[in-house]
Amino acid sequence: MSKWDKLKAIRAQAGERHILDLFKADGDRAEAFSTTTGDLRFDYSKTQIDAAARAALIDLCDAAGLADRREAMFSGGTINETEGRAVLHTALRNLDGGPVMVDGQDVMPGVLDTLARMRSFAEAVRGGEKPAAGGAFTDVVNIGIGGSDLGPAMAVLALAPYHDGPRCHFVSNVDGAHIADTLAGLDPKTTLVIVASKTFTTIETMTNARTAKAWLTEGGGDAAAQFAALSTAGDKTAAFGIDPAHVFGFEDWVGGRYSMWGPIGLSLMLAIGPKAFDAFLRGGQAMDQHFRSAAWHENMPVLLALTGIWHHQVCGYATRAVLPYDQRLSRLPAYFQQLEMESNGKSVSMDGAVLDGPSGPVVWGEPGTNGQHAFYQLIHQGTAVIPCEFMVAATGHEPELAHHHRLLVANCLAQSEALMRGRSLEEARAKVAGKFEGAELERQARHRVFPGNRPSVTLAYPQLTPFVLGQIIALYEHRVFVEGVILGINSYDQWGVELGKELATSLGPIVDGSESAASKDGSTAALVAFVHRHGGG
Ligand code: F6P
Repeated sequence: MSKWDKLKAIRAQAGERHILDLFKADGDRAEAFSTTTGDLRFDYSKTQIDAAARAALIDLCDAAGLADRREAMFSGGTINETEGRAVLHTALRNLDGGPVMVDGQDVMPGVLDTLARMRSFAEAVRGGEKPAAGGAFTDVVNIGIGGSDLGPAMAVLALAPYHDGPRCHFVSNVDGAHIADTLAGLDPKTTLVIVASKTFTTIETMTNARTAKAWLTEGGGDAAAQFAALSTAGDKTAAFGIDPAHVFGFEDWVGGRYSMWGPIGLSLMLAIGPKAFDAFLRGGQAMDQHFRSAAWHENMPVLLALTGIWHHQVCGYATRAVLPYDQRLSRLPAYFQQLEMESNGKSVSMDGAVLDGPSGPVVWGEPGTNGQHAFYQLIHQGTAVIPCEFMVAATGHEPELAHHHRLLVANCLAQSEALMRGRSLEEARAKVAGKFEGAELERQARHRVFPGNRPSVTLAYPQLTPFVLGQIIALYEHRVFVEGVILGINSYDQWGVELGKELATSLGPIVDGSESAASKDGSTAALVAFVHRHGGG
């Protein structure tokens, strides 16, 4: 029997067994099916995973050679095989570690040198020693998309209590509305524009960068002093006219969606300062050390990954919801969407063979409690089972509003309890008894039944500090890595985004009317005609 068949047999055997019964059978279940590292606690006890399932899941790690792959990643092996690259975002936060060799060269001196340059640039901007045309910088606009936007945008919001630098704004969409609305309130003489693009060719980013340059120069700003670039393509940043002293480079072994730890994090460093940024890096480093050394059954990224594999590949649940009970993590689901879906949304394995099972699931979510008043209805009573990943801090940053935080925590815990416990028909009848009678009572009761037995995991942390955010992001990065290794896929390329980019290029002249739409399919041609009829193009 294959390892996957064994897992499916364990799942089938569990049948409709209630998660609550697992707690009744094992008084120690909450501890036995939780793991901690530092101050983080990951609880996966409210799932159908029992000791046999966990052992069979852990077997997948050894069968996939996870330990060797992990070592290959940390030590600069070419694990991104389709692009022939190492995968070394971990080197960007390797503050206390030793050398990291790529092709016989230690990359750490270069990493630390760039970090030092970022620190002095950030200090100078924050302290006013490096002024813009109109004096000290008041605002920073990061222009980038995907991995050059989602990480810093998410983290600047997440760490708002630590924000003591210039205001930060993020422009990503090529929709002119985005840059127009963002620049509308800003002073071109005191705004720093950061063009963040690994390749420095991404059409959205380059279009927005040119628009920003025109806005800044026409408004009396000094482009030489007020533009910076974050990129692997030094020749292209020079061609755009960016002062090399304001260019922070990185290597192709940093994937876009893994890049916020290095130069792509400059806007975050400007916002919270180099010291807090260091704490963020140290949080990531602490998770690396844990991932590299903890046994599989105590290893948080591994257990998070195995829970994901259990729910998607074994149980067949199509999506997973990420539900941070933390308003400042409201961009985290979008960040995880790129991290997880761009990494593991593949159809072929590393050797090019078609996968014989599902790859990564759909990842989605919103912060609690807002989601409760929107889509939780379906999670509780819909026909699809949606495993939920709750996140919650023990304390907020507003001691004067501790009563808000208590309510937030209570709601988070209530949701995972309700999903597991459910409400039986008898309990529902008791709820409506006295209000209805006979057939109407029965009908009303049925609407109030919750099936329960719905799985969730919870990540609890003391407070959303820079260090904790670093731990959380690295935790999820490694989760993606582990899932990718077990599925045998390359988590570090993204060929699936190419076709749309190519077709957008070919559609440009059709949309502007300089070429005919005759080569296109009927639907595309008709939509182009609609745009032209209504004044577009
Ligand atoms: O389109 C996908 C992608 O290549 C992402 O992987 C990347 O994060 C994003 O585009 C932006 O790329 P760049 O940083 O090169 O502009």
